[in-house]
Amino acid sequence: MNNFTTIAPKYQQTAVLQKSASEQLFDMLSISRTDDVLDLGCGTGHLTRKIRSFTKGVVVGIDPSEGMVTVAQRNNQDGIAFHVQPAENLDMVDQFDVIFCNSAFQWFRNPSLAISNCYSALSPGGRMAMQAPARNDYCPNFVLAVCSLREHPDTQETFAHFHSPWFFLETAEEYADIFAKAGFSVVSSAIETVRQRSTPTRAFEMFEMFESGAAAGYLNPDCYNVMLPSKYISIARGLIERQFESQAAHDGDVELTFHRIYLLGRRP
Ligand SMILES: C[S@@+](CC[C@H](N)C(=O)[O-])C[C@H]1O[C@@H](n2cnc3c(N)ncnc32)[C@H](O)[C@@H]1O
Repeated sequence: MNNFTTIAPKYQQTAVLQKSASEQLFDMLSISRTDDVLDLGCGTGHLTRKIRSFTKGVVVGIDPSEGMVTVAQRNNQDGIAFHVQPAENLDMVDQFDVIFCNSAFQWFRNPSLAISNCYSALSPGGRMAMQAPARNDYCPNFVLAVCSLREHPDTQETFAHFHSPWFFLETAEEYADIFAKAGFSVVSSAIETVRQRSTPTRAFEMFEMFESGAAAGYLNPDCYNVMLPSKYISIARGLIERQFESQAAHDGDVELTFHRIYLLGRRP
């Protein structure tokens, strides 16, 4: 079983990509000492604690995964309020100056409802920044690795029943449209392609990164329309791991590519 509750104990160690992508989001928001901040899809709360270090205001983290929130609460010595709640059920009104949403938007079941809730949760003049993998080929390395499940005789029949849990759009304008329809004025919206040449990645590190997020879809029984054969997950893991090894150059490093949407919106 691979969902965020099972991933939670190791998440903070393996969420390297999510953490590096968050830095730009922090720059976009410039959180002040008095801002009240919501961390939407806070996971195990390591970025929520970073938010705490910027502000003396109220800091709240919400996430629908009980396992992630349990880990967040266990490490919480900073007076942060963590709640088990999906963005679609967010019902706070006029409470925050800032909403921070890192690497979670792609999991939303109803993005329009979630963003409309965010608009209501912000005070007038409040701002929201969101970063998430974008485009169907969000990470060509992951997409290629998963092709091995589609092609291998031991997995292809079952993998044909996989249904994607993710919400990806192809253009920055489409993302901006969701925010604009909820009432936001969109300050900026851009899909950036990051090629990690400067910090080369070994094949086993690729697999750990895969396990910190993508595995909660590709290796999650809830994302298949059939019961998974008993050895499916372990066979699939082996195939994906080997495929990452085949992506490595002679020196053992894989060049990682990621497409990400960065959006900043403001409630007028
Ligand atoms: C890859 S983790 C990101 C966690 C954290 N924001 C970070 O950057 O490390 C994605 C998180 O989105 C959460 N999530 C999934 N569906 C969600 C929803 N509908 N509303 C809010 N969060 C959601 C998951 O439970 C998971 O903790």
